[in-house]
Order: sequence, then C-alpha cells, then structure tokens
Amino acid sequence: MIIMSDNLNAASVLEKIKDFPPMPQTAIQVIKILKNPDYHITDLTLCISKDISLTAEVLKMANSGLYSPPNPITTLKQAITYLGMSQVKNLVISLSSKTLYGAGQVRLLDQKLWEHSLMTAICSRLCSIRFMKKYAEESFILGLMHDIGQLIMSKNVDEFEDIVRNAYNKNLNVYQLEQETLGFNHTEVGSLAMKKWEMPEIFYNVVKFHHNPDESPAKDLTHLISFSNNLCNYAGFGITEYYDEENLNKSQEYLEISNEVRDEIQNTLLDIFEKEKELFKI
Ligand SMILES: [Fe+2]
Ligand SMILES: [Fe+2]
Repeated sequence: MIIMSDNLNAASVLEKIKDFPPMPQTAIQVIKILKNPDYHITDLTLCISKDISLTAEVLKMANSGLYSPPNPITTLKQAITYLGMSQVKNLVISLSSKTLYGAGQVRLLDQKLWEHSLMTAICSRLCSIRFMKKYAEESFILGLMHDIGQLIMSKNVDEFEDIVRNAYNKNLNVYQLEQETLGFNHTEVGSLAMKKWEMPEIFYNVVKFHHNPDESPAKDLTHLISFSNNLCNYAGFGITEYYDEENLNKSQEYLEISNEVRDEIQNTLLDIFEKEKELFKI
C-alpha cells in the first residue's frame, strides 16, 4: 500500500538529505590537486593511496576489460600513467561514489541500483568511444550518476521501495510510477543534487532529461546516456524487468546505431559483466 505524502516534493527531499555526503573527501582532494597546474603525479598517488579500498578499486578497474592494459597494472603510479589524469579523476569520483550505494545495510535495491548504474556507465563509455569521442570523459561518470535521484530517494523517501515493488509486479516504468505516486520523479531530485553539488551544467541537463532526451539542451550526450540506460534495462541490468522500448529506439535512431552494432554492444556488455563480476560487488 502506497501512502501519498502531501508535503513531499523534489526540493523537500533534497532538503531532508543533509546527511547525504556532498561528495566523498578523496574525490574532492583529487579535484583540488588536478586544478593546480603545477601538480605532481606523486601528490595524486599519495592522495589516492591513503584510501586503501579506493586504491584497490582503481587497480581493479584499470585492469578490467574496459581499459584492457597490454600488461597487468600493479601499482597506482602505473595506473595513473596508463589511464591518464582525466580518466583517473573520473574513476576516483565514480568509485568513491560506490560507498554511497553501499552505506549502511546493503539492500537488494541498492545492489541493483549500483549494478544498473555501473553497467550504464560502462555502456556509455563504450558508446562514446565509438560514436561521440568528445564526451569520452563525461560519459562514464554520467552513466554512473544518471539515476542518482533514485539512490537519494531509496534512502530518504519511504514510499520508494513500494513504488519499485509495484512497478516490478505490474511491469511498469518506475519513472512514471514515481510521478503518479509522489508528484515528482528521480530526474528532478537528481538534477537538483547536481546543482547543489555544483556539478557542471551538462551534468544537470543529462540527469534531468535522461527520460526525455529530445527536450535536453545537451541532446547528444543525453541521448547517449538514454540509449545506454535503456539498453542496460533491456539486457537485464535494471532495477525491474521493464525497459522503455520507445525511448530505446528513439535514442538508437538519433545516434544512428544499426541493430547489428546494438547487438554487438549488448554482447560486449554481457561479456564484461561475466568477466568483471568483482566490480559489481558493493
Ligand atoms: Fe532514470
Ligand atoms: Fe537508469
């Protein structure tokens, strides 16, 4: 049974989340170091290595099929040299956000959200390398963050679990059900969070419009994320079994991706998931 909350809206949800970390500390430090034009690789290595689990995650990711190094990468310095600064920055921000998903007791829903977000990030990166090189940097982190509004809602809106359960049982779109039940949805909560965290405007636009990319001021990147999001749902990496066929086709068409290439991307994704299961554990 879903109880309607009278005073609930996207802004009030965001108001409630004072405890929600603005951004993990190591990520803030890394951004600070890279902003300084005279930074040294040692500063970066030192900063990341203070966080042991993050270091392990960066090494795991650098060795994964996603980056396929010619030889195994065993040190942070090698990882930074191989991946380059901007990729390392993205990885650190992304991987440190993993703790947001797993904070406290890990529920099946958090696990599913993390899996869906990471798969969307991987798919977005694969697609951007192929079709939209200029967004190779942003695509991974945006794939990871596109549903950050659902993560916030899952921890702060009592009705959210019921909405997901209901959507699962009736094979409905969670996004639409949020709107009908609460009067707002995760794209509003997520985009408000982007604003609050002072993320670049393109992040705000992609998060806000990823379910209706044609309305986005950043159409190209929003369609790329929308395509990845829907393809992941279609491939079985969603929080429910529903996938938005209309939006999947619309973004596929916008990006001029043939059915053969789409199948190829889907197979690569299934392959990466099989090989890199470790990455998906919270
Ligand atoms: Fe979404
Ligand atoms: Fe999604």
